[in-house]
Amino acid sequence: MITAAVVGIGDISALHLAAIDAKPDVELVGVCDVDSGRAEEAARTFGVPAFTDHGELLRRVRPQVVHVTTPHHEHVRVAMAALEAGAHVLMEKPVGHTLAEGLQLAERALAAPQKVGVAFQNRYNPTAAAMRAVLDSDALGPITGARAAVWWFRPAGYYQAAPWRGRWASAGGGVLINQAIHTLDLLVWLLGPPASVRGRAATLVLTGVIEVEDTATVVIEHTSGARSTLFATNTHHTNADVEIEITGRDGILKLAGGEAWLTGESGTHRIASDMQAGGARSYWGRGHSLLIEDFYARLDQREPFWIGLADGLVPLQILREVYAQSGILPTGSAL
Ligand SMILES: NC(=O)c1ccc[n+]([C@@H]2O[C@H](COP(=O)([O-])OP(=O)(O)OC[C@H]3O[C@@H](n4cnc5c(N)ncnc54)[C@H](O)[C@@H]3O)[C@@H](O)[C@H]2O)c1
Repeated sequence: MITAAVVGIGDISALHLAAIDAKPDVELVGVCDVDSGRAEEAARTFGVPAFTDHGELLRRVRPQVVHVTTPHHEHVRVAMAALEAGAHVLMEKPVGHTLAEGLQLAERALAAPQKVGVAFQNRYNPTAAAMRAVLDSDALGPITGARAAVWWFRPAGYYQAAPWRGRWASAGGGVLINQAIHTLDLLVWLLGPPASVRGRAATLVLTGVIEVEDTATVVIEHTSGARSTLFATNTHHTNADVEIEITGRDGILKLAGGEAWLTGESGTHRIASDMQAGGARSYWGRGHSLLIEDFYARLDQREPFWIGLADGLVPLQILREVYAQSGILPTGSAL
């Protein structure tokens, strides 16, 4: 039996708690939130002790795995303490609200034998896995370029419900660090690391509601020679499906409408779908439970978890570069 704790009992913690609950070989031993009401409610539901201080949770129940589901600016502090206490860490994206903090955590983690995983769960979508397999097979030939779009909806109420989400000091950014970070991760995973980045980010609609950007354009020159261009916004009227199109000499690979399509010599074929049985598709996808399952399954392997801090730092480097080029980082903000 592996023991686990969840720190930060807000929206996303529900998926982590459900995934832990569904695993017969994992025992939840504590929950923590600075809001005692939230901690106590989850504690009652799962029959475990509630804490309002993660340090006390770590001392009292000594979990083997800590899920970090707090606001961004608390990720590194909680993850550091968990590593210090000898626990493995499964953390929500982003690694930190600043790149500087993320790098500190990466340095600390190098000296620790425990594993650190980052929740880029979209890599577990059937469509993402199928696209990666096509690229691995070289069916597209040399990649010439890619485009991606995140047209999402985050109204004022989303930020008013949890004001940390709209502030530089607690979120470290807006649509890029919070929503489109998954698509940045997919672009890097599918096309390789960035050699250089250009971009602009701005607050176009939610001015006066949030400090951070609601819209951004990012151009990544990948070391492979391919260029990808991402457009991301939280100003759309609904959450549209993420789109990615990758063009190669011999074909086109496309993610649209929750399905992946390959166009080649023999025409256009659907190669994967993220739809679940019955046609439903949960908003965050099934990726979370698959990633959590996989993290636990690999705990006794020698290698680090395959989506770790190195992967988590790359999107942070990209978006910090865009923020710097846009001149929107608050004075004194660490790069
Ligand atoms: N992977 C995904 O698809 C996905 C989706 C949504 C959110 N997230 C991430 O999950 C994290 C949480 O987001 P959310 O929307 O659930 O936020 P939220 O505001 O709904 O919940 C965060 C909770 O953490 C608590 N908290 C704050 N500081 C704390 C501390 N020091 N110790 C313990 N608890 C603390 C807050 O009181 C709150 O209850 C963020 O990193 C966010 O980016 C990831």
